[in-house]
Amino acid sequence: MARKTMIAGNWKMNCLSADGIELAKGIASEVKSMGKPECEFLVCPPFTLLSSVKKALRGAKVALGAQDAHFNVKGAHTGDISPEMLKDIGCTYVILGHSERRADHKESNELINKKAIAANQAGLKTVICIGETLEERDSGKTIEVCTQQILGSVPDSATAANTVIAYEPVWAIGTGKTPTANDVEEVHAAVRKVLAKKLGKANANKMRILYGGSVKPSNAKEFLSLEDVDGALIGGASLKVADFIAIAKNAGF
Ligand code: 13P
Repeated sequence: MARKTMIAGNWKMNCLSADGIELAKGIASEVKSMGKPECEFLVCPPFTLLSSVKKALRGAKVALGAQDAHFNVKGAHTGDISPEMLKDIGCTYVILGHSERRADHKESNELINKKAIAANQAGLKTVICIGETLEERDSGKTIEVCTQQILGSVPDSATAANTVIAYEPVWAIGTGKTPTANDVEEVHAAVRKVLAKKLGKANANKMRILYGGSVKPSNAKEFLSLEDVDGALIGGASLKVADFIAIAKNAGF
């Protein structure tokens, strides 16, 4: 089945205006020079830069996403941003349930599920993140934890068209450590099985499952060539134009 590879950059809480715009312009220019890349590019800057990054990406096949959204359309929620606001500013995607939000803001599977429903209703596609901690891996609970996260945080209404899953082992994020290719394939295959039970085989077979956690140009091919890995969610290496683009190119795009 044809699942279009996604190369996604999560900028996290990085970049002020000048460097964010420079980064977006650099990515736009590289993607334009690739002609018609067969992969889908996505960048997810902080809220403050969404508007200027949108402008900087003009004319390039690079989608814009945010890193979180509230589950309400509007109202008295000081400091929050609604999915409608993100759609209005030009986002097509929103990352939900990143492990840093699960840890820093105590986000539960139930909350992420509500956010995902709201985001889809606003016309946004979601990138729903899952992944085990080192302690959970060491005690052999990786598949169990990922299964619970999928069952809890992915809404029953999710489809391959409105949802992307990102498997990001917490211990591999920003550490330079990665699971082996075998470990990644094992988790992705297990996740697809759970998705098939929950959403039906057709959706599960078409739904993209990204790997994230210390992806860089030198390991991109190893992970992206795995059967059930349909792209990468990249943190640190997405902040450098050359590295972000090299990840796609080294994977054959
Ligand atoms: P790193 O690529 O910096 O490990 O971050 C991965 C990540 O958390 C992307 O969402």
